[in-house]
This record gives sequence, structure tokens and C-alpha cells, in this order.
Amino acid sequence: MDKFVIRGGNPLLGTIKVSGAKNSALACMAAAILTEDEVILENVPQVRDIETERRLLSSMGAEVELGYGRAQHRTHIRCAVLSDPVAKYEIVKTMRASSLVLGPLIARTGMARVAMPGGCAIGGRPIDLHIKGLEAMGATITQEHGYLEARAPKNGEARLKGTHIVFDKITVTGTEDLLMAAVLADGETLFENCAREPEVTDLAALLNAMGAKISGAGTSTIRVHGVAKLHGARHRINPDRIEAGTFLIAGAITGGDLNVDACEPNHLGSLLGKLKQAGVRIDIGTDHVRVRSGGNLLAVDISTEEYPGFPTDMQAQFMALATQAEGTSTITENIFENRFMHVQELVRMGANITVAGRTATVRGKTPLQSAAVMCSDLRASASLVLAALVADGETILDRVYHMDRGYERIEEKLRGVGAQIRRMGDVFGKK
Ligand code: EPU
Repeated sequence: MDKFVIRGGNPLLGTIKVSGAKNSALACMAAAILTEDEVILENVPQVRDIETERRLLSSMGAEVELGYGRAQHRTHIRCAVLSDPVAKYEIVKTMRASSLVLGPLIARTGMARVAMPGGCAIGGRPIDLHIKGLEAMGATITQEHGYLEARAPKNGEARLKGTHIVFDKITVTGTEDLLMAAVLADGETLFENCAREPEVTDLAALLNAMGAKISGAGTSTIRVHGVAKLHGARHRINPDRIEAGTFLIAGAITGGDLNVDACEPNHLGSLLGKLKQAGVRIDIGTDHVRVRSGGNLLAVDISTEEYPGFPTDMQAQFMALATQAEGTSTITENIFENRFMHVQELVRMGANITVAGRTATVRGKTPLQSAAVMCSDLRASASLVLAALVADGETILDRVYHMDRGYERIEEKLRGVGAQIRRMGDVFGKK
């Protein structure tokens, strides 16, 4: 199992480049199921979750080619024949976003078999709202041996029916999954209380380029006129706002001067506001943001919310920053019930953090010391990397595979701006 060895103390200086958004790319790859033509996606990040989705689509009979060489971030997907419309447990268990194929599979083939995702490190992660929406569109859903089996109504052409869906709770992949189901449905579907995340907008842009008729994506009300068929398209994935945010915090926490390039500043509003409050100097360009901090940070309270509020995917990283800010910060997690797994590891490095229910109280500024720490999930890992960048001595970060799910070559990118970080293979080998 790979580890990172990180020696803290260097301010990050220079320019660091953001890759394409993992969570947009996952939804857009699933959208390729909706057509027998080729879908070409550009700016696809080379991370483990994308490789998992490639395996998932391939196991169903799709041809998926992840680019290499100069075409490195271009992916070609052709779902001409879906011989086996099943998302198998072996793949779904490693990536909960696999449930994103449910909507497109049933829309395209009239049936889908998808393993129930189960829990993960950050909480239960149910898919009841996906199921409820598909049932409202006429699907019959049964559950057997850990699999969901969904069938479109038998109305001659096995097509879902347009309807009116009000989400009980805002869900990102739920909105995406049902959007993909609705584009090929018979008639109009009106969605209310939708997720407004940029990843939903990105997916809708691809679907419209494929011939779908979607309006309102990016707002809480989305209207879809079902069409009979979709065609191929070429689409460029948005920059990853969470990777960009992680780098902005890396610049700020190390007292550096960092230009975060190839990002979309419009997607970073809530984070940039909080960084300013913390005393960080920010200059915003069209596709880059420069952060400068002398290391004198102030405590700031955050409370995670759906977009455009403060993202839950930035909570752990912001907590690392809060340990280095003067004063008391409160950090409230409202989206997932169990997303404080990084707290104990930060405390082991010397942070003063207490948790009561959904709120963590961080008292700063505390010097951090190097330690052997363990990654528990993707964003928790990022928070530990940030803490290690300012810790005294050499931190060893175990279970880096969590990080590899969503950050492309992070150690190379950080090394390029002055961090002392290296990857170490399993020195003792496997027993
Ligand atoms: N929820 C339900 N029922 C459902 C679906 C969701 O109760 O059917 C609840 C969840 O339990 C949670 C809340 O609704 O409490 C929001 O969950 P959501 O469905 O929005 O999360 P998701 O779609 O599973 C995506 C991202 C996550 C990100 C969240 C919130 C992808 C592949 N994943 O998850 O990203 O944290 O939205 O913004 O898009 C990550 O990248 O590290 C990550 C976990």
C-alpha cells in the first residue's frame, strides 16, 4: 500500500494546475450509456474513480478508451451494444457513484440491475430518492440478493414516462441520475428542489449536446422534454472546484504565494469568501486565482451546505487551515453524518479540536507535529496532506489509495510548487 512522506515547513510558491472535475466526469461517462454513438470527453482527470467507471462500463459491453500521450485526458466511449446492463457488486462496492448508471441504463435498455451501494466511510449514503423518482416515472423496482432490478413500464417500447418530481432532499447524483432517465422518457419531466452544483450543469450541457432538451440546470427547477434518441457528442469537463479549493488552502496554510491555474473562479465563491475572512489575500482572474498569506490567519466559522453554500467536500481541508488560525473556529457539517474522520488524526498531530454532534470546534493556532497518520476517505486524506505541509518534521501518510481516487498526481503537482512530498511503495511487500 503506498504511503506519502511529507516534510513540512516550505511555503508553496509558483503556479499549480487544476485537472478536470472527477464528479462531473463520472456523471458524463455514465451519460454515454444513453446513445449507441461515440461520446468524447476532454479534460477527464486520471484518477482511480475514473478507472473504476471505465471498468464498470466495459463490464456492460461498452468500448471505453482512456487517452494517453498527447490525448491523455481525452476519453472515447461507445456503448453500441450493452450486452450486460448490470452494475456488479465487485465494482459498485469500491465506488458509490456507480449508482449513477441506474437512470441511463433503464432509459436506454428498459432494464437495469445495479448492486446496492451500501455505506461508506462518510455515512450511509442511501439511494432512496433515485428509486422514488424512477418509480414516479413508471419503473418497477425490486430488490433481491443486494441488487436492485429496475424495469421500464411495458408500454410497447419500454419507455419511462415524464412526470413531476419534487426531491425531498437535495441530492447531487440523485438529480443527475434522474435527469439521465428523463431525457429519453415519453413527455415532459419537471424536477423541483434539484441540486444546483456545477457538476449537474456540466452533465446537462453534455446531454443537450447529445440532443436532449433540458432547461434550468444550475437552478432548483429543471425541465426536460423527453426525446426518442440521443446522438454522440464531444464535451469538455469543467475544472475540479474541490481540487482547486484544496490547492488554495495549501497556498494559504503554508504562508505561500500560489497561483491556482486552469480553474473556474465562479465555482469557488463560498470558499474564496471564507479565505478572505481568514485574512488571505486573493486575486481573481478569468481562469486562475492567486492566494497570498504571510501565515497570519484568523479563525472563521463555516457550515456546509449544498451549492452555492460551503461544500462538504472542502470541510476537512478547511479544518486543517483552522488549526493554523488565531482564535476559535466552529465547523458544522450538515450534509453527511459521519464526516469528521480526519479530526482524530489532526488531533494526533497536535491540533486542538473537539466534536459535539455535527459541530467541530477548532482552537488555534497550535503548532502541528509530524506523525504516522491514516487516510480514511478522499477529502480527509487531503486535509492530512495540508496539515503535514506545515507540521514540524516528517509525516507518513498511510492508505494513500483514498487520495488517488480523486486527486491526479497530487504529489508531483505539490512538489512542483516547493512541497517536500514523495510517494513510497509498500517497502515490506505483501504477505
Ligand atoms: N441522500 C438521501 N437519499 C438519496 C440520496 C442522498 O437521503 O437517495 C442524502 C445523503 O445521505 C446525504 C445528502 O442526501 O446526506 C446529500 O447526498 P448527495 O446525494 O448529494 O451526495 P452524492 O450525490 O452521493 C455527491 C458527490 C460527493 C459530495 C456530495 C455532496 C459525486 C460522485 N459525489 O455525492 O463527493 O460530497 O455530492 O456535495 O458526485 C467526494 O468527491 O469526495 C464526494 C464524496
